[in-house]
Amino acid sequence: MLINTLLPLALLLASQPWTQPQACALEPRQASTAEPGNITYPWAQPGDDNPSSPATMGYFINHLCINVRNATKSIDWYNRAFGLRLIFTAHISEHFSISYLGHAHGGRNGTGYQTSLELNREKNNAAGLIELLHLDFPEWDLPSGSKVPNTFSHIGMVVPNVTDTQIRLEAMGANIIKGAGEPFTGEGPFAAASGFTSLRDQISPEEKETILATLGPLNKPLLIVADPDGTIIEVQNQEGSQVV
Ligand SMILES: *[C@@H]1O[C@H](CO)[C@@H](O)[C@H](O)[C@H]1NC(C)=O
Ligand SMILES: *[C@@H]1O[C@H](CO)[C@@H](O)[C@H](O)[C@H]1NC(C)=O
Ligand SMILES: *[C@@H]1O[C@H](CO)[C@@H](O)[C@H](O)[C@H]1NC(C)=O
Ligand SMILES: *[C@@H]1O[C@H](CO)[C@@H](O)[C@H](O)[C@H]1NC(C)=O
Repeated sequence: MLINTLLPLALLLASQPWTQPQACALEPRQASTAEPGNITYPWAQPGDDNPSSPATMGYFINHLCINVRNATKSIDWYNRAFGLRLIFTAHISEHFSISYLGHAHGGRNGTGYQTSLELNREKNNAAGLIELLHLDFPEWDLPSGSKVPNTFSHIGMVVPNVTDTQIRLEAMGANIIKGAGEPFTGEGPFAAASGFTSLRDQISPEEKETILATLGPLNKPLLIVADPDGTIIEVQNQEGSQVV
């Protein structure tokens, strides 16, 4: 038991940035040096160091919200696939429900366990929650973002070992769009959810090549999976390469 507890810690320490600096994937450059006629891609502009207004102290992103076709199915899927637990479902009316899912942040004390009451109490202290809106009208043809691109592209999930996660998801019959280590082609539902498919005719072959030359290697290690409604989930290793 002790070994089981200490081993991940040892691996975690061994992978800290101060012992193993990670290479940047893209050349960092300030926008001011990117003059017309002298721009080569890819490049990345690092963020600035300006502190935010003190008035926003304590602000954080609590949840994102997706529309689902079948709340029961999605709640079960997110639980089995990624360990998100149901915090509550508010049955607002006969055909409308709101559910919140989240990881048990009590996991940080090593047990991973919190009662539903504790999850509810901590809801507004927790980050990374998913809210599911369910309008229960089966004849409603709710299009998924991977069919009709819209402002929602994908959910990003981080896991300790993406290979292990893929094995689990395959075993539960999840819809794997791209396995970890498989090439990113710029086609298929992942690309569609980001709008590339609908802009296929407007992006020149040269620009597409430029995009693939960078996104190919960056996206290759990622596992891409679709939820029951086709919403895209991007899964990456905790230990990933830095973009800038
Ligand atoms: C062109 O871009 C490079 C960065 O790739 C920069 O170092 C250089 O100063 C730029 N040259 C001119 C003439 O703008
Ligand atoms: C919703 O999903 C559940 C669980 O997968 C299933 O039993 C139920 O039949 C589904 N409801 C509809 C209306 O499809
Ligand atoms: C871990 O945290 C959870 C949530 O606060 C709590 O229910 C549980 O008792 C804690 N376990 C231990 C061993 O401290
Ligand atoms: C990730 O999991 C796979 C499959 O269980 C294993 O072969 C691999 O060694 C693991 N990688 C790391 C870095 O732990």
